[in-house]
Amino acid sequence: VTPRAILKDPISLVSHEMSQLATNIGSLIGSGHPTLNRIGAYYFESQGKKIRPLLVLLLSRALSEIPLEQRDRLKKIDDLDIPEQPVYPGTKSLSAIFNDPTGPITPLKILHGISPNIMLDPLTKPHESLPEFDHNRGILPKQRRLAEIVEMIHTASLLHDDVIDNSDSRRNRPSGNIAFNNKMSVLAGDFLLGRASVSISRLRNPEVIELTSTSIANLVEGEFMQLKNTILQPDEDLIEDNTKRIPKPTGAVPTEPHEYSVRLPDSNGKIHTITHEQNVDAAFEYYTHKTYLKTASLISKSCRSAAILSGARDNVIENCYQFGRNLGLCFQLVDDILDYTQTSEQLGKPGLADLNLGLATAPILFAWKENPALGELIQRKFKQDGDVETAIMEVHKHDGLGKTKELAVKYRDLALQNLREALPESDSRSALEFLTNAVVTRTK
Ligand code: FPP
Ligand code: MG
Ligand code: MG
Repeated sequence: VTPRAILKDPISLVSHEMSQLATNIGSLIGSGHPTLNRIGAYYFESQGKKIRPLLVLLLSRALSEIPLEQRDRLKKIDDLDIPEQPVYPGTKSLSAIFNDPTGPITPLKILHGISPNIMLDPLTKPHESLPEFDHNRGILPKQRRLAEIVEMIHTASLLHDDVIDNSDSRRNRPSGNIAFNNKMSVLAGDFLLGRASVSISRLRNPEVIELTSTSIANLVEGEFMQLKNTILQPDEDLIEDNTKRIPKPTGAVPTEPHEYSVRLPDSNGKIHTITHEQNVDAAFEYYTHKTYLKTASLISKSCRSAAILSGARDNVIENCYQFGRNLGLCFQLVDDILDYTQTSEQLGKPGLADLNLGLATAPILFAWKENPALGELIQRKFKQDGDVETAIMEVHKHDGLGKTKELAVKYRDLALQNLREALPESDSRSALEFLTNAVVTRTK
């Protein structure tokens, strides 16, 4: 790859690894049931941004530029071959999954053992001992596997997310819940997580296992925080499912809209009145924490894991983690802007989804700061006629999108700073800087 080509497309540095990604993931997600194979592979068939594996691979490459004497030898570079992954019985190329020549499984086939899909999972081979140290450079097998794991976890969360959000499209195709159905999408997501967990454990690195597993739990926590906005609804008065909204019999803690203050119970049940400013600050804090859990945690913990696997020293590991955290927060802020500005066609998934789902993201929080009356709309999740339209108008009137962009740029700059502190100058580091900048300027 020539320097000019890198400048034009920095991603070309890892294009070989990226082209292997789908194939490798394909080998990890074969199952005993052809339909599960189809749903499990469904989102990998279409072109996602693949930003998470791209980051892991570029970061791993950049970390390999750190001279060995500057790495922590006591920790050893954790690069060596991963114990061989079992070849799952349903494993086929992704396109073959869609044209399974044996067709759907039938009792007759099971009886006659015709379908290879009904074999049991092969037993895991015992783990071979790994040499202490290795002088290989470049992306390590475990880091490559980490990139695959991260994309599998992300894809599992998308299958679940599209059920929760009742979406109809993803990556310019019908979303999993539409192409199949809710139940199958949920199960396929669970299946991907199960297989990702097998691969995580086979990395044989306790710290990385802990980080990656925590990021799965964080995704769920973040999604839950989004579902239950406890700052504005201290006593949630609605039970939701995809289609109905059922009032809960117990009453909500009343707010006093004319004072634009909110009454919140503390842990002893004592009610406190808080000011509009405090309320907005609390909502931003809640939103940021939710965003960390929902988006930045997976990115930051996988960046941290890539650094750990490279044998990097603590300050490098910490900067890689902070890089992922800042970039993840930036990424989601931009996502929340694009939800307002782009059409469903441009996004390949529903646009203006957040307001319609009742979600108050940064743009409307900035508008609410200027116009306290918006608190009522936020609280009732934009459910009254005209609420969504009013919210959009107010976002534009108070430059909610511009202010959100400004915040995204702040996180981008912090991320760029982390890169410079963690990594020596290299073409991979430049590619990471390019990618970091592209997160802000992207249009989908
Ligand atoms: C997309 O958000 C969704 C996420 C970033 C995470 C969703 C997490 C879960 C559904 C919890 C379950 C997790 C696992 C690992 C099974 P979005 O709806 O704002 O974005 P979108 O516009 O792309 O749909
Ligand atoms: Mg969604
Ligand atoms: Mg969602």
